[in-house]
Amino acid sequence: MATDRFGRNIHYLRISLTDHCNLRCIYCMPEDMTFRPNAELMQDDEIFTLTRIFASLGFDKIRLTGGEPTLRKNVVQIVNEIANTEGIRSVSMTTNGLLLNKLAQPLKDAGLQRVNVSIDTLDPEKFKRLTRWGKVEEVWEGILAAEKAGLKPVKLNAVIATGYNEEDVIPLAALTLEHPWQMRFIEMMPFAGATEFQLTQMVTAKQMKEEIESELGPMEIVNDGKLDGEARLYRLRGGIGNVGFISSVSLPFCSSCTRARLTSDGVLRMCLLREKELDLLTPLRQGATPEEIRSLIIDTVWDKPWGHGLAEGAYALNRGMSEIGG
Ligand code: 5AD
Ligand code: SF4
Repeated sequence: MATDRFGRNIHYLRISLTDHCNLRCIYCMPEDMTFRPNAELMQDDEIFTLTRIFASLGFDKIRLTGGEPTLRKNVVQIVNEIANTEGIRSVSMTTNGLLLNKLAQPLKDAGLQRVNVSIDTLDPEKFKRLTRWGKVEEVWEGILAAEKAGLKPVKLNAVIATGYNEEDVIPLAALTLEHPWQMRFIEMMPFAGATEFQLTQMVTAKQMKEEIESELGPMEIVNDGKLDGEARLYRLRGGIGNVGFISSVSLPFCSSCTRARLTSDGVLRMCLLREKELDLLTPLRQGATPEEIRSLIIDTVWDKPWGHGLAEGAYALNRGMSEIGG
């Protein structure tokens, strides 16, 4: 079991399969974003070797992220191999949904259990403005395909930015009146690539909740406020799904954080909002034994940071969100 010096049991690994993306969300990356050459990314066998090592340390829950993970060549086989790794109990994915229409069923058949799909607005024009060219209808088809394939419960993520989609919290939250989905609103966090935008256009969970309740009525707290992953859940009157808020900036959930991240270039990162990281891919390529890699992981987990420094202006600017994996 991998434990940090605060006693947190770290057993949830988010693996970024690629930093590439087929959208350019305005709060995530610049339009002319450059991506890593494929040779710098972990190759399939390197992902599997590292996954086996993490699993041997008690990591049992994997989430595949990006950039956009469905762009990774062999994504279905990668899911299959990870899902069949001894010790791994669940494999899920965070995706922009564009390719789910085609991939939801093969991914489910390969052992994927759930997906989180990003959808920041239901309005085609606004979606295009936020993603720079995306078609919201394709995301919608992807969400329905995920549900049909049994990738459940369907969770949707929205990042809200002032001047872009503040009012959209209402129709997005209202989806839970008709669908048994979890609609989660995420506070925008600052990273490299779009820092100024992220800092000035951020909307707090409290503001989003007030906006929703002013239109759709008071919400009831779910599970006595116990976090579901990182989200605090509520239910609208008459709702069949849940509305969640991820308040990473205004109310961090560090005490219950059990996660580590492996970037697409094979770097272990223990906190989204702290720059500290450890390269695992280079030693692996230089012939380090599994035992040596294990001990690097154990030491890095032990030193997992606690708490972000956003209030003091300490931003993690060495990577953008798409290079960390969300
Ligand atoms: N702050 C918060 N969430 C973000 N995402 C992308 N960039 C940011 C940011 N700066 C979200 C995406 C996706 C998930 C991987 O992270 O919308 O849902
Ligand atoms: Fe791509 Fe996700 Fe970043 Fe949007 S937020 S550009 S979909 S990686």
